[in-house]
Amino acid sequence: MSKPLNILFVTSEAEPFAKTGGLADVSSALPQMIKELGHEIRIMMPRYGTISERKFKLHDVIRLREIPITIGAETRVAHVNSSFISNLKAKVQVYFLANKDMFDRPGMYVHPTTKKDYEDNDTRFIFFCRGVLDTLKLLGWKPDIIHCNDWQTGLIPAYLKTTYKNDPFFKNIKTAFTIHNLAFQGVFPAASFDKTGLPGSEFTMEGVEFYDKLNFMKAGLMYSDVITTVSEKYAQEISTTVEFGCGLEGVLQQRKSALHGIINGVDYSIWNPETDEHLENRYDIKSLEGKAANKRELLDKFKLEYNEHVPVIGMISRLADQKGFDLIKEIADDALKMDIQMIFLGSGEKKYHEFLESLRKKYPNKVGIEFGFHDELAHLIEAGTDMFLMPSQYEPCGLNQIYSLKYGTVPIVRATGGLDDTIQDVEGANGTGFKFKKYESKELLKAIQRAVKAFGDQKAWLKIMKTGMSKDFSWESSAKKYISLYRNLLK
Ligand code: ADP
Ligand code: GLC
Repeated sequence: MSKPLNILFVTSEAEPFAKTGGLADVSSALPQMIKELGHEIRIMMPRYGTISERKFKLHDVIRLREIPITIGAETRVAHVNSSFISNLKAKVQVYFLANKDMFDRPGMYVHPTTKKDYEDNDTRFIFFCRGVLDTLKLLGWKPDIIHCNDWQTGLIPAYLKTTYKNDPFFKNIKTAFTIHNLAFQGVFPAASFDKTGLPGSEFTMEGVEFYDKLNFMKAGLMYSDVITTVSEKYAQEISTTVEFGCGLEGVLQQRKSALHGIINGVDYSIWNPETDEHLENRYDIKSLEGKAANKRELLDKFKLEYNEHVPVIGMISRLADQKGFDLIKEIADDALKMDIQMIFLGSGEKKYHEFLESLRKKYPNKVGIEFGFHDELAHLIEAGTDMFLMPSQYEPCGLNQIYSLKYGTVPIVRATGGLDDTIQDVEGANGTGFKFKKYESKELLKAIQRAVKAFGDQKAWLKIMKTGMSKDFSWESSAKKYISLYRNLLK
């Protein structure tokens, strides 16, 4: 047996504490699986004001009550709270970096009502990145690997390779950086660079500079020892095309040998219809009656009529361009000419709120919508719908289509990123869903029409459902891939 590793996993969100999307699911499930596999792993994330002290039994870490953190010419003070995650057997320690000015706000990155980014997001996440390293040193716990995620953590590898380079405590620590979404890069005016305290020599094309601005994501890509992203297809898309590369395709090309695609897994202790604690009617591949009961309950909730022969298409999503709402908008009328019902749960851009609102007005007997973020309802939608729609423009991994498989809810997806890697079209053998290639509304419509037609053949439909339900996307094999990348770095 080789020696267990020590890993610090740094993230800006994690279930059950704070979540805006799939990053939170991954940041909770992956560390737990790595721990189950015998390694010591701890998580560090910001202490947002929305994280309840009582509910999560947060306590102060006495040694870490006053940590001075330098931001440009200023010093701000952090303290650290701690708690645990333990859905699985393993218990993972979580440290929250706290400072009221920085993180005690109603939103995580954007103001919930204006939907605008907080203006000081540069300061907030410089504080977080430096704070993580300063905390670690005071804690006296030295990891072998620091695993960073998305732009909010991008400066950490840069600090380790520059500002903290000669500090013996940080010697030999290696960094992994995971891209969950390349479109969000954390780009700030050149003036923000001074706040980082990085050496001036790093504000170049070979460093953190990006068209005369500071780019956190680029920092993560340039200075980390290994880069991963959350599916093989997305790894290929972002490093070879301008369409997906978001201006960083050149950087990724340059670092191609360090870039790996590792598909996300599922935490089946949370997303499994057999044990789902949010469901009243549980079911599994051998007894599907519970699924029909969930469909009835879901439709009741939305005051829509239940008919077992009418397929319900569900969608749970950030209302953002990424998720393909412009295509849905173009074909909604044509799709709703068919005998179907649609249920949407989401929040995000105003233009899509308005579009969905108008759709509900036009088709009150066919369309149900809930705006906001509702975990429990998300589970009922997975369980109670027949099909799940994800026509994304791009999708690094996507989790809901994988959850859908387990719930016997057949995905209709665009063949991009993780959607392409996880769903096989029913046209081939052992298909699990319906895919379309080109990002065009008529292609989407055709996929929906194919699905609706297939739903009419009960026996064939059951086979598609069961093929999906029998797939196993548990974290173990992906977690092992991360561990082997960590080990390679330490050789
Ligand atoms: P992304 O991270 O791009 O938003 P993913 O498919 O990876 O997409 O993950 C989205 C996660 O967030 C899933 O767990 C999904 O159930 C959840 N989610 C998204 N929107 C909502 C919402 N409005 N209410 C509850 N859960 C949501
Ligand atoms: C991002 C991506 C999504 C991915 C998630 C977790 O939010 O948009 O595709 O599943 O991160 O990796």
